[in-house]
Amino acid sequence: MSEPRSRQDVFAKPKVELHVHLDGAIRVQTILDVARRRGIRLPADTAEELRRLIVLRKPATLTEFLGKFAEYMHVIAGDRDAIKRIAYEFVEDKAKEGVIYAEVRYSPHLLANCDVDPIPWHQTEGNLSPDEVVRLVNEGLREGERAFRIKVRSILCCMRHMPSWSAEVVELCKKYRHEGVVAIDLAGDEALNCEAYPGHLRAYQEAVRCEIHRTVHAGEVGAACVVREAVEVLKAERVGHGYRTLEDRGLYAQLLAQNMHFEVCPISSKLTGACDADFSKHPVVTFRKDKANYSLNTDDPLIFDSSLQLDYSVAYEHMGFTQEEFMRLNICSAESCFLPEVEKSQLLGILYKAYGMIQSTAF
Ligand code: NI
Repeated sequence: MSEPRSRQDVFAKPKVELHVHLDGAIRVQTILDVARRRGIRLPADTAEELRRLIVLRKPATLTEFLGKFAEYMHVIAGDRDAIKRIAYEFVEDKAKEGVIYAEVRYSPHLLANCDVDPIPWHQTEGNLSPDEVVRLVNEGLREGERAFRIKVRSILCCMRHMPSWSAEVVELCKKYRHEGVVAIDLAGDEALNCEAYPGHLRAYQEAVRCEIHRTVHAGEVGAACVVREAVEVLKAERVGHGYRTLEDRGLYAQLLAQNMHFEVCPISSKLTGACDADFSKHPVVTFRKDKANYSLNTDDPLIFDSSLQLDYSVAYEHMGFTQEEFMRLNICSAESCFLPEVEKSQLLGILYKAYGMIQSTAF
């Protein structure tokens, strides 16, 4: 079995990751193991064969990308042990990448097989609800934190095509806010804006009311107006991707002035076709030049056969990133994370120390 691609760590210091999907960060071997245990037939017998089916090798369309989840989500969804296991293994994998704090996101509904309409991935109805999915993920993450000594929090995703799920998503954020759930997200096809789907807007209004943190996937493939809607209507505190903000100079200037955080995912944006395949033309080159507030993230390392080291390598080799910029962007990431202020200060303290910086150093 070959391991996901990784290279020498071009930034061998503690890192913060803010945009990664739990269901896009599963180990190939785990999918095979669970399928075998559950008696689910897969069109692949070995990790290598399965990886060939799941991994995107060259720039694709959003539809091709989303189709990859259908190759394996039915194996994991609805299975208590599998859900807890992927959460635990996620923490182990991040610890190995040198991440000391991660925020991992997922849709509880897409891992459930009851109390969800429609039941996803053609599963037969069972007895695992979205609420219990959140409890299982929390357990797996907490056990992983104890074993691997890093901190991981979670973000619950609304799905753009399923506005009827969003009310429950925000309720789950409220219910589990003291057990590791720190924010709400909106993921999926950006063509489905919120004016047409008010379920998301109501959920985000409730999140604002209850002081639940908010991020939104916007401006990845969608136009700059989707970013504007995320920030102005949904009151997002961070933007997932946000590349196409650059197409609206006024909006970009406004977000720079607001110190808005962009969750940038270099390898993802190439393979989903969101950005030019030439990394030297990536929007993050402009973000860096303008000293914008952004992070570097993997998004879906299973589907891109990637690791956080690989995203850093790309920035280093193809975009001219320096050690100083890696440090600056990790400090920005920590400052923009959704931890309570006391824990955020502790995280920043650890980074300043590891980077040999004095805390008062201003960037
Ligand atoms: Ni994403």
